[in-house]
Amino acid sequence: MITFNGVTKRYADGTVAVDDLNLEVPTGEMTVFVGPSGCGKTTSLRMINRMIDPSGGQLLLDGVDVTTIDPPTLRRGIGYVIQQAGLFPHRKIVDNVATVPLLLGWDRKKARARAMELLERVGLDPKMAGRYPFQLSGGQQQRVGVARALAADPPVLLMDEPFSAVDPIVRTSLQDELLRLQAELNKTIVFVTHDIDEAMKLGDRVAVLRVGGRLAQLDDPATLLARPADDFVREFLGRDRGIRRLSFISDEGVGLRTDLLVPASTDVASARASGEEWLAVVDERERPLGWVATGHLPASGTLADLELAPYGTYVSGRDSLRGALDATLLSPSGNAVAVDGSGRAVGVATRRSLNEALTEVAAGAGSPAKSPGVTGSGVTGTGASAKGPDVTATDAGPSVKDAGDTSGAGGAGATTGGTGGTAGPGGVDG
Ligand SMILES: Nc1ncnc2c1ncn2[C@@H]1O[C@H](COP(=O)(O)OP(=O)(O)OP(=O)(O)O)[C@@H](O)[C@H]1O
Ligand SMILES: [Mg+2]
Repeated sequence: MITFNGVTKRYADGTVAVDDLNLEVPTGEMTVFVGPSGCGKTTSLRMINRMIDPSGGQLLLDGVDVTTIDPPTLRRGIGYVIQQAGLFPHRKIVDNVATVPLLLGWDRKKARARAMELLERVGLDPKMAGRYPFQLSGGQQQRVGVARALAADPPVLLMDEPFSAVDPIVRTSLQDELLRLQAELNKTIVFVTHDIDEAMKLGDRVAVLRVGGRLAQLDDPATLLARPADDFVREFLGRDRGIRRLSFISDEGVGLRTDLLVPASTDVASARASGEEWLAVVDERERPLGWVATGHLPASGTLADLELAPYGTYVSGRDSLRGALDATLLSPSGNAVAVDGSGRAVGVATRRSLNEALTEVAAGAGSPAKSPGVTGSGVTGTGASAKGPDVTATDAGPSVKDAGDTSGAGGAGATTGGTGGTAGPGGVDG
């Protein structure tokens, strides 16, 4: 745990960058510092690894005042990743990653093996190991930066706008990768960004700072969205707070109707007799095929003969209420098909049941989503806290034939490189 106890930083010219900061960064969680430019995020971060010392108050690492620990020792346990800097240009990628283990006296072979393992972990082709930093895209360099920060397996990771210089697609994949890694590694991470969406996506808790280095609010993302402390926070959070909040609320409160799921072998007469406007057709393995409108049925035959309208589907228990809402908006029927993790249809969320769930949310109920997002990247159950990339409704796409193959698709896309830069091992400032 990292504790800021009334921490203040006044620079020599009198600038107060951080003013009486009190907060705790719990062990094994990601805490994001977010706020406008100049609000003291970087200064706060660098006081943790003593690149800057506070002028007042105390900064504790597991209860020990960091100013009593000599910087090299302190930094051995703290990985550091920054934007667009830090890779040693004249060293191959593998040697960049092996830097800290070698400094710690590991033998060369072991350090290289560790570096290779980490490159794979952060999603880089082992081929890259022999290249120099300039031969990598910015996004790939950024991954190397993360690998290097993790090389000596430090319990704490400090990340200062690590993904700010890459394009939005690469950025999304780097964020997803970080969430995936964190689900495995459970590091104590302080992540700095000025991007509120990034903060919401990544943070177990988000600290919103205002200029002058004062803490405006510290809460989990769902609470921030639901109850901003003041106008500054409200404005900083931006638009669509209500909708965005749904990403952090479980879809479990949405009642599902199983009677609207019908096998493709159903004859048109009984479909018509159901009295329902829309029916969700499933195959013999209960995988969704598409919607049929009972008002437009031919005189005879079965539902298997008909052209079906594509589904909006979402994964029940994994996607959030926002995913369920999104899926209804993608369905011509206005209803969404809920599937389980294996792609089997488990029921239909109707507009009515969704509306009831949304009404509960507005009334202040609704349980947190287990792990909204990180779809398609194989991450499940990252813990009790709700976080993940935005909305993850899996829509069936334009072809009904494809509808059965949508489980687990959607969400996190392919991981590719981009632009950006990187890290320094313990305390090397770019
Ligand atoms: N060495 C320094 N001497 C004097 N003032 C400084 C120094 N370093 C930073 N500052 C000032 O302290 C304040 C906080 O700076 P800091 O770099 O911590 O902000 P930040 O929140 O990281 O901003 P950004 O989002 O732009 O990176 C700013 O007003 C900055 O100008
Ligand atoms: Mg900064």
